[in-house]
Amino acid sequence: MPLIFLKDGEKIVPEFDISDTEATFEWINGQYWLHSDDPKEKPIGIEIDKILDRHLEFFRKSSIHKELFARAIGIKGAVRPKVLDLTGGLLGDSLLFLAAGCEVHTCERNPLVAFLIQSAIKNAHHPLLQKFRFSPVDGESLLSPEFDVAYFDPMFEDVNHKASPKKQMRIFRALLDGDKDAESVLEKALTCGVKRVVVKRPRLSKELLQKKPLRMEGKSTRYDIYFS
Ligand SMILES: C[S@@+](CC[C@H](N)C(=O)[O-])C[C@H]1O[C@@H](n2cnc3c(N)ncnc32)[C@H](O)[C@@H]1O
Repeated sequence: MPLIFLKDGEKIVPEFDISDTEATFEWINGQYWLHSDDPKEKPIGIEIDKILDRHLEFFRKSSIHKELFARAIGIKGAVRPKVLDLTGGLLGDSLLFLAAGCEVHTCERNPLVAFLIQSAIKNAHHPLLQKFRFSPVDGESLLSPEFDVAYFDPMFEDVNHKASPKKQMRIFRALLDGDKDAESVLEKALTCGVKRVVVKRPRLSKELLQKKPLRMEGKSTRYDIYFS
């Protein structure tokens, strides 16, 4: 089934052609949501204001400094690094960094995912968005020493059952062709002048490069930290 856009029931012609996908974009509550042709799968949409409020509520009760992601990106005391998130996706990590007090510039190179993000941003009003920028480009073009951290979370091959994506994410993964250039993007990040490069990996997966990183492990996720 070709990609279809529906805005309040009316068909919209997409600006990009992905004719072999099963996806539909539907306009719900002021923004586009993505769903597959399986009615049992929940649609995917990024509710930025809600997500940020949820994180803020969590950080009011529990210290940010206890969080593995915070230690990985270099949050320490009152220090909040300026982050370049090279892999926007559904903004899960970017919004976490933003709620933790960081300034964040995020990019996404897949036009379909970038469309979903831009639609979500237009529908969001949270004051924290003053510290957020989004660019629908390849992250390589934004690599620069002005950032304290480059954060990289490329798509991975499943290594075990626990790390496999939620059913809801099946369509999202089907639309993306994997990030096969991950190693070369990481190599470029390491030579662009950013002092700290953080790669998110499934806990049991191999490192992206031969060079040994500092590893921080959680239950299912691992952060590989490279200092340049
Ligand atoms: C695993 S997802 C990221 C998930 C994200 N961290 C989150 O929490 O929602 C990887 C995403 O990064 C994008 N991506 C991969 N390499 C990229 C690059 N070099 N520049 C921009 N986007 C990239 C892919 O298109 C995909 O949408």
